[in-house]
Amino acid sequence: MDILNNHWLALPFLGSAAAIILRQDLPRTFDGKVVIITGSSQGIGRELAFQLAEKGARLVLNARNEAKLQAVKAELASSGAVVTTCAGDISKQADCERLINTALEQYGRIDVLINNAGVGIQYPMEQLQPDVLHTVVETNLLGSIYCTYYALPHLKKTKGSILFIGSIAGIHGIPSSNVYAATKMALTGLAESLRLETFASGVHIGIAQLGFTQNDPDKQHIGPDGNLVPCPKRDPSMVSPQDKVAKGVIEMIEKRQHKRVFSGLGKLLYYLNRISPELVNLILRSQIRRFGG
Ligand SMILES: NC(=O)c1ccc[n+]([C@@H]2O[C@H](COP(=O)([O-])OP(=O)(O)OC[C@H]3O[C@@H](n4cnc5c(N)ncnc54)[C@H](OP(=O)(O)O)[C@@H]3O)[C@@H](O)[C@H]2O)c1
Repeated sequence: MDILNNHWLALPFLGSAAAIILRQDLPRTFDGKVVIITGSSQGIGRELAFQLAEKGARLVLNARNEAKLQAVKAELASSGAVVTTCAGDISKQADCERLINTALEQYGRIDVLINNAGVGIQYPMEQLQPDVLHTVVETNLLGSIYCTYYALPHLKKTKGSILFIGSIAGIHGIPSSNVYAATKMALTGLAESLRLETFASGVHIGIAQLGFTQNDPDKQHIGPDGNLVPCPKRDPSMVSPQDKVAKGVIEMIEKRQHKRVFSGLGKLLYYLNRISPELVNLILRSQIRRFGG
């Protein structure tokens, strides 16, 4: 079972225009709802924005690159979506507070927070510069915590949803995913604790554990020295399409589902890990050479 092939072929990117043409009219289950999506200038976050706009959501988009964010906003607005942007770095607490305040100033309420922004990295730990460890933890974990912290009081008023975008690396560690897996596992703990804490308030807390998903062709990962490097190519047969993944995440919010493991391989990993973590270790150990670990 080659679930960790690191030499995958490039997947041609389906532009949003083509995706929109192919989509059916979606029921407007988010009519008027205010949805904040971190990391929505590309990839899964951007796809979520397009699908949620079709379902009637009023959007707050976020990413660091203002120009890319404005391009997504313009594309959405041209099809009639209600959308605002807040460029900012979620690893910075003040930017997260500003993001939540932007939603409140613009729309007066918040119904859904999707903690999607994250950075990928795939190197054995001893190859990483210490600053890189900060970047990954501050973005993938603290960024989600800060946004949740500032949004929670407002989500209690609307009995809204917080959705964390996790990973199958949050089910079982994966070779060379060390600090990435640590952040995604931590999101599971965060989601579970918050679910207990907020039970009486009616806030829905969900975590989507995504498997390998189609990447934008220009997606970048963090290199061992902190510089961005092209994301390793993936075998197209091993990745889930972005539109399918986004549809599943949105379904989780609609059904107020707590947890969903995405992709066949993700489900296999999840159940195998419950039955025999040792067997999972054996399988993953056999993959280490691919990662130079
Ligand atoms: N793709 C997969 O196979 C896969 C699998 C499992 C889990 N996931 C998770 O799914 C999420 C989205 O992944 P993706 O593949 O769509 O990633 P992506 O294509 O690299 O997009 C990441 C988005 O997050 C933004 N971002 C990154 N760092 C940020 C920061 N510090 N502050 C604000 N925005 C930031 C990026 O824009 P800027 O660079 O302009 O800020 C971009 O909009 C991530 O949490 C990832 O870990 C992905």
